[in-house]
Amino acid sequence: MSASGNIEIVRATGEVRRRVAGWHAEGLSVGLVPTMGAIHEGHLALVRAAAAGSDRVVASLFVNPKQFAPGEDYSAYPRDEGRDAGLIADAGGDLLFAPSGEGVYPDGFSTSVAVQGLTEGLCGAFRPGHFEGVATVVAKLFNMVRADAAWFGEKDFQQLQVIRRLARDLDLGVEVHGVPTVRESDGLALSSRNVYLSAAERMAAPTLNRALLALADRAAEPDADIARAIREAERTIAEAGFGTVDYVAVVDRETLRPVEAPITEEARALAAAWLGKARLIDNVPVVPRGT
Ligand code: PAJ
Repeated sequence: MSASGNIEIVRATGEVRRRVAGWHAEGLSVGLVPTMGAIHEGHLALVRAAAAGSDRVVASLFVNPKQFAPGEDYSAYPRDEGRDAGLIADAGGDLLFAPSGEGVYPDGFSTSVAVQGLTEGLCGAFRPGHFEGVATVVAKLFNMVRADAAWFGEKDFQQLQVIRRLARDLDLGVEVHGVPTVRESDGLALSSRNVYLSAAERMAAPTLNRALLALADRAAEPDADIARAIREAERTIAEAGFGTVDYVAVVDRETLRPVEAPITEEARALAAAWLGKARLIDNVPVVPRGT
């Protein structure tokens, strides 16, 4: 155990469990905020929401190798535990759980958690094994920490829905909360991967959000041509200097399946596209304007 700022860093599962059990014995509720570090204001919004919704907050920091496909940025992923610990402490975190790779995946680890259906489209179609890696580590983190509730960002909308399903399907006993996306003033969603952007790419990056907002606006019309609005959003994103546009989609919030006009319930517009070395994702609500 060590201290950074005013937050304790715990590495052993037994220790984090003892701390959480101690809080529960005092009648305190415990919230969990899982992260991979490279902490920014988006993560801190989750810590603040967890602090508002529970008596004690555990943040976890673990760069999960299982959710990076071969060739993705696992080794390049930014790491700075001391800085992260200080920021989490200032936002109201009470304990930082930072297990080692061996602590999470000891020799012989053989179990994988697959959430069917929700993981097949959108990012799941482009990042093989990604959501299985996420579901496996989140199931583990829930079991290791044994918090009452956990907070995740809408920034990773598909991930949030996968985790809600996972918690329900496996009776993990953790209430899952979503937190709205924190953005730069020009609309770019905060992301640990934004550090990969050059100055010119950073200027182009907010187009992803702008194209989604325009798409959401058009898709909300009762007589919308959603397929056409999607093609136009793809063109806008490509013209801004993005490379491959992995997908642009308008989907049902629960099933993540494409929806057609007229939309009668709030839906979601999502996109993923490459800008230089960074794969950026974003999503916005599609609020029906009435039929
Ligand atoms: P990471 O990318 O570090 O994100 C941790 C949490 O912060 C996720 O719930 C994510 O949705 C949220 N987040 C990221 N950017 C945000 C923003 N701009 N606004 C609001 N929330 C934001 O997501 C992961 O790590 C991992 O997959 C994890 C769930 C920890 C499992 O390894």
